[in-house]
Formats: sequence, structure tokens, C-alpha cells
Amino acid sequence: MDHLLLPLRRLALTALASLAMLLLTAAPPGGLAAATPAAPAQSPVEPAVLAKAVLEMEQLDRLRVGLASSLEGRSEEPTLQTMKEVCKPVGTKAAAIGKENGWQVRQVAAKYRNPDHAPANAQEREVIDLFHRQPAITGLWQPASAEQGAGVNYYRRINVEPSCLACHGTKANRPAFVKDNYPDDKAFDFQVGDLRGMYAVFIPEVQQARGTLQETPG
Ligand code: HEC
Repeated sequence: MDHLLLPLRRLALTALASLAMLLLTAAPPGGLAAATPAAPAQSPVEPAVLAKAVLEMEQLDRLRVGLASSLEGRSEEPTLQTMKEVCKPVGTKAAAIGKENGWQVRQVAAKYRNPDHAPANAQEREVIDLFHRQPAITGLWQPASAEQGAGVNYYRRINVEPSCLACHGTKANRPAFVKDNYPDDKAFDFQVGDLRGMYAVFIPEVQQARGTLQETPG
């Protein structure tokens, strides 16, 4: 399994390890290693599923970074089509990952471009605020809210990189398709290193692991 974890960014791995420890202290014997004695409360979601959620979000993030950097250094003016091939497909892929696994996967941003991505509840607002104040925190788990029912939420930060500025830089420099299609756009004036938003994964309790790390292609 070690080789599968290698592509993870170091920070994410640290987040996985430390956050998983929090939840997994109640894991049954034979689950992922947790040195702490069993806590009274049982984690509502299997450790393998928690780990899968982390990996899926790392891959989703790499998809966006890869798409965005493919626009860099192009000599020709990007066409409408190439411009669209960055964050919209990430949203589509997020929904597909959710469907495949029985999770809800969203992108959330305080300064959003697509209004569907506005924070939906108090917990999302609090976590965004925490990511904003604490740049060293890459991801975290939270118990599901009462409206969601039993389960856990995984949140993973999204930072602004140089390749994002083509579309999330100054207001005036946004591509025409953004100005035309997103009249209430708030997702501009970012700088490299800023918090752009987060991935939010809700994992309901009911499910069994629908796959293990081994089944996740790299
Ligand atoms: C080619 C233009 C383009 C580039 C480059 C781009 N984005 Fe976006 N971004 C968009 C558009 C358009 C949307 C709205 C998509 C939709 O309707 O769901 C968006 C939406 C998002 C969202 C979802 C939240 C929201 O505001 O709706 C996040 C998060 C995001 N972008 C992050 C990034 C990051 C991080 C990068 C750089 C790695 C990046 N974007 C690069 C155009 C771009």
C-alpha cells in the first residue's frame, strides 16, 4: 500500500495521518494502525473509506492544477473551449466521484464564481474561516450536521497557484466567457497562496467500503 500513497503531497499525507488518528482511535482491531486505546465512540465510517476520500480529493485537485497549467505558456489566445476546460470539468468530476462512492462531493468558496458553490451551512462557513486563518491546515474531518444525518464530512483546502490567475486574477483581466456567464462572480482579485475554497465531502454512515485503496487508480 505504501507505493500507492507516495504520490500524495506531504502535507496531505500529514493531514491524513493526523486526522485519521483522531477518528480512527475507535477503529476495530485490524483497521488502520492507531496507537491510542479505543475511544468510547465508534467512527461512523470505515477507515478505508476515509482514506479513499482523501485520495480522491488529492486526485481531483491534481486534475485542476494539471488543466490550469496546460493553459500556461500557450502562444495563441485560448479559445472559449480551452478556457472552459479547467474548473467546470472539476465540478463534473466531483459530482461523478460522489455518485460512484455514495458521497456528496462539492466545491465551496466564500468568494465564489458559480453560486452553487456558496457555503451551504454554518459548518462550511466555519471550516472556510479556519482554513483562511490557518494556512498550515490542509484538511480536516467534522461530524455530520444534524440535517445531514449520521456520517462524517471531509474538507480539503484549495489554494491559488500562478496558473489560476488567468481567470481568478484581477476583475478586468477575466476572460470574456467568465464576464459573460457569471454576472455575480466574486472569484477574482486572488493572489498566489490565497485560500481559493475547499472540497467538501459528506460520507454517510450507512455504506460499506465500496472499494479499497488498491482499487483507486493512480
Ligand atoms: C480558464 C479559466 C480558469 C482557470 C485557469 C481557473 N479557473 Fe477556477 N473557475 C473558472 C470558472 C469558469 C469557474 C466556475 C465553474 C462552474 O461554473 O462551476 C471556476 C470555479 C472555481 C472553483 C469553484 C468555486 C467557485 O468559485 O465557483 C474553484 C475552487 C476554482 N475555480 C479554483 C481554481 C484554481 C485553484 C485554479 C488554478 C489551479 C483555477 N480555478 C483556475 C475558471 C478558471
